[in-house]
Amino acid sequence: AELVVVSDEQAAGALVADAIVSLIRRKPDAVLGLATGSTPLATYRALADRIGGGTLDVRGVRGFALDEYVGLPAGHPESYRAVITREVVEPLGLTPELVRVPNGDPATVEHAGADYEQAILAAGGVDLQILGIGRTGHIGFNEPGSSLASLTRVKTLTEPTRADNARFFDSPEDVPMHCITQGIGTILRARHLVLLAFGEAKADAIAAAVEGPVTASQPGSAVQLHPHTTVIVDEAAASKLE
Ligand code: F6R
Repeated sequence: AELVVVSDEQAAGALVADAIVSLIRRKPDAVLGLATGSTPLATYRALADRIGGGTLDVRGVRGFALDEYVGLPAGHPESYRAVITREVVEPLGLTPELVRVPNGDPATVEHAGADYEQAILAAGGVDLQILGIGRTGHIGFNEPGSSLASLTRVKTLTEPTRADNARFFDSPEDVPMHCITQGIGTILRARHLVLLAFGEAKADAIAAAVEGPVTASQPGSAVQLHPHTTVIVDEAAASKLE
């Protein structure tokens, strides 16, 4: 993997936004793999700035979110559907129908994983996948123990991940117990992986992902199996690398 250490999140966001702009220039119907959480926000802001001038036509750009909570009421502001609409689709001016998020409705979730895989295949696959990483080493919501070949399916969130995501909810108990997430196998099919991490809390997970053995115990380590991975971190997240 290519490792880039940057001064801060803004510098990382600028690099990734530039890469996405050149991708869209080359391929106006590019397929973006979208992470939620705090990590990609600087990228989305930088991208909105670059697109804002109206010099780039993004109406054909397609997107697939990594994951969604299962069982939040439709329209809940912290559902990843709502987050992707607010942080990505609206500020970038993307075409809403072209940006998909896994469907976390419990009534249909049994089929939602296979439907999502089908939709990604039908779109021709993801061109550039943005990834964050959890303290537990998860990518998407593939917690330790997830098969490296896994596809989109329902998973149980771990307690550390629920605690980390409690900041988005009124109370920690409001964080759903389950999610639907692209699998590690799904993520590895994207043509370019861009893994971002900032802050000391991510240093162990980054060291394991970049330098540790490839193991289901550290889902982030799966990026080592991919021929085109770019890891962009700040000094703090890089602090445990050899
Ligand atoms: C989000 C996702 C997660 C996050 C990870 C880091 O769609 O799949 O893997 O990227 O939990 O979260 P933040 O960026 O909030 O530290």
